[in-house]
Amino acid sequence: MSNTKRIETARLILREYRIEDVEQVFINWASDPLCCQFLSFEPHKDLTETKKNVQNWIDNYDNGSFDWVIETKDNHEIVGSISVTNGHCALDLQNGIAEIGYCFGSKFWGCGYATEALRAVIEYLLTEAGMYLVEARHISGNPASGRVMQKAGMKKEAVLRGRRINKVTKERNDLYVYSITKDEL
Ligand SMILES: CC(C)(COP(=O)(O)OP(=O)(O)OC[C@H]1O[C@@H](n2cnc3c(N)ncnc32)[C@H](O)[C@@H]1OP(=O)(O)O)[C@@H](O)C(=O)NCCC(=O)NCCS
Repeated sequence: MSNTKRIETARLILREYRIEDVEQVFINWASDPLCCQFLSFEPHKDLTETKKNVQNWIDNYDNGSFDWVIETKDNHEIVGSISVTNGHCALDLQNGIAEIGYCFGSKFWGCGYATEALRAVIEYLLTEAGMYLVEARHISGNPASGRVMQKAGMKKEAVLRGRRINKVTKERNDLYVYSITKDEL
């Protein structure tokens, strides 16, 4: 069975990417400058770039990746992404540690979607996927992401000083590390 198990929450479906998702992924978050402002990648310039990424994410399911696209239950609109093994996040199977990252298109911000998706993925990773600890990181200039981590039950455990250049302000920002263990669910 795929590590990227289909998960349903009250309002969302978290599932594997399909190649037919490319257009919505591009329009709804991957080309969105606001969505990418605190992320390591730049907004996608065209559908070809998104298609290449989506195909890559699909191909990686066979390697055990945890990489969900998120759509709304009511009208099946793709709103974002949540992942353990995509980009810079790290999966340490030997120690049961999963680092998680997420992003949502800016037109969907403030609806509680990120919190709803993060809670569901944390629960799956800690109760079904054999993880002991789930970690997430955000830069000090992105407090909304920290709030999502708090609302999902994670605790701030470290401040890594000056680890990232903020792409918006060009200033050096601290990196905040949050985590939750199996015992804290
Ligand atoms: C960060 C992000 C995931 C939040 O998504 P979202 O769906 O709006 O999140 P939610 O609605 O679940 O919760 C957002 C919370 O942040 C709060 N918030 C928003 N802007 C804030 C700010 N500038 N400072 C502090 N809190 C803020 C909201 O008020 C809300 O908290 P509340 O429910 O207590 O009021 C979304 O903005 C995003 O995708 N950003 C771009 C990608 C990104 O930064 N990913 C994370 C990288 S670490």
